[in-house]
Amino acid sequence: MCGIVGFTGRENALPILIKGLYSLEYRGYDSAGIAAFTKEGLRVVKTRGRIANLEEKIREVGCDMECTCGIGHTRWATHGEPSDRNSHPHLGGKGKVAVVHNGIIENYKELRERLEAHGYEFKSETDTETVAHLVDYLHTGKQEDLAKTVLAAVQRLRGSYALGVVSMDNTQEIVAARRGNPLVIGIGEGENMIASDITAIISRTRKFIILDDNEVAIVRPDEVIVMNEFGDKVEKEVQTVNWDMSAAEKGGYQHFMLKEIMEQPKAVTDTVTPRIKNNAVCFEDNGLTDERLRDIENIHIIGCGSALHAGMVGKRVIEAMCRIRCSAEVASEFRYENPIIGKKDMCIVISQSGETADTLAAMRLAKQAGAFTIAIVNVVSSTIAREADGVLYTWAGPEIAVATTKAYSAQLAALYLISVKIARVRGLISIGDERALCAELQRLPECVTEALKCQPDMQRIATLYANRPSVFFLGRGLDYAAALEASLKLKEISYIHSEAYAAGELKHGTISLIEDGTLVVALATQPALFEKTVSNIREVVARGASVVLVTTDDFTGDESVCQHIIRLPKCLYEFSASLSIIPMQLFAYYVAVERNCDVDKPRNLAKSVTVE
Ligand code: F6R
Repeated sequence: MCGIVGFTGRENALPILIKGLYSLEYRGYDSAGIAAFTKEGLRVVKTRGRIANLEEKIREVGCDMECTCGIGHTRWATHGEPSDRNSHPHLGGKGKVAVVHNGIIENYKELRERLEAHGYEFKSETDTETVAHLVDYLHTGKQEDLAKTVLAAVQRLRGSYALGVVSMDNTQEIVAARRGNPLVIGIGEGENMIASDITAIISRTRKFIILDDNEVAIVRPDEVIVMNEFGDKVEKEVQTVNWDMSAAEKGGYQHFMLKEIMEQPKAVTDTVTPRIKNNAVCFEDNGLTDERLRDIENIHIIGCGSALHAGMVGKRVIEAMCRIRCSAEVASEFRYENPIIGKKDMCIVISQSGETADTLAAMRLAKQAGAFTIAIVNVVSSTIAREADGVLYTWAGPEIAVATTKAYSAQLAALYLISVKIARVRGLISIGDERALCAELQRLPECVTEALKCQPDMQRIATLYANRPSVFFLGRGLDYAAALEASLKLKEISYIHSEAYAAGELKHGTISLIEDGTLVVALATQPALFEKTVSNIREVVARGASVVLVTTDDFTGDESVCQHIIRLPKCLYEFSASLSIIPMQLFAYYVAVERNCDVDKPRNLAKSVTVE
């Protein structure tokens, strides 16, 4: 949801800003721009399209963009279509102030009217331009007071923001502010940066500060001053990134998505291994004590998109293993439906980015109602991770492709760990059972590696069906949860319409859509349900569907009705969703490649959804 970057130092800022923007492009990519202090003053170059278009425009404009301080933005449109004039940065007043913004200013209309009444002319339809004019309006023009002005301005804003602001009054200074959207400050030697996330600063420095809600920072080449909402200086902890650049590079793969699919055995290993000691699940993670986990009455799992789908798998595994009532809920619904949350309830919040606005709001609601909150999060020190009572990090490493794969797999692994732990502390499984389950968990990465061997088959099948207008995914129980994720993967990157159905439910209406040649992918990894799913396959075959069956090595049902069969290695059936998703990710990937889609940056999407 928009990426912002800023640099102030001694070197030419332009290539640093562009590089930063490239690494933030996954956050939004419908337009991009930069503002920098050049010999000619505060220059803004911005354009609809990708960062590459911006680079081209900078060359075309031909202005001397030699500068040592500037800000940049890559946009995911919320207010106003993607266009040159709606791109950021936006200038305030007569071009003295420039602003980049991630978030939504909810009261922008009323502010705009008031500023227009003061003679301000708006050039865009965005909410952000309001901030630029407001800062200009409040700015008295003294060198030292841009930060105070921004502080005064943000107090008039409703909504969410991460802001980068520069003013002609101090051409080496960036003022940053945050409420509800992520912002980090990279601490370098004689240079400092601001960015929406660490990937944009890591090529310059590994040290960073996280700006908290309502804080404002003054960022200059040799100092960073952070103030709270009262303008008082606050001391911030300087943290260090523990992964390197190569983790955020393609490493020879054509797309990040394929690289990340292939990294899944490692993501699962890194999530599971540190949490199994002496054949038992052992959480040294913040807040996850045995006492806390023993007394739970109900569990609410909350997430959006794939994180929700991981939660739907988790719900089934937890209910089967722990016999606790567990629901998996859409965060954006949960937050507005006055949910029934007891003081002894636990809320498991799942988010790769740790910044998803709906998930964060749902978590805050659950916390307020007295529930114990555990976050399963990939991005260290993200807002959800910091606000939850307990955190279980998925050590999947940076995930760059917009469509999640390895973070999803790591989320499943984290849910299995929680499930085994709860079952044990509640006395539902013996030490021996726990040992066996841990052995299965430790074996899971090998099974994922084995499952990845279906890659050539999935590539071939994808080529055969890449032109289908619609694909159905069917499954029961855990396979239904996996089918939902399979369907999301396909539609988000290949733009093929697809639906996931509980296999037994299709005949209650939707089966009318099945016709000659419709592709149906059936997932059947639960031995107890093999026959039931085969019956449902027969129903669609009778109506002309072509069927791809994804099942296990020990499938005993009648496969003769299926065009293609993918056999997965055998693992404990509770963990089977970790394997059945592998061919589905590969199928979606190769269909998208076959259709020449932009796999890593699908249209209309962004990786981190920080707006409602
Ligand atoms: C799909 C996908 C999205 C995210 C969802 C939640 O491939 O990536 O559906 O899962 O937007 O994002 P996080 O996990 O960051 O909260």
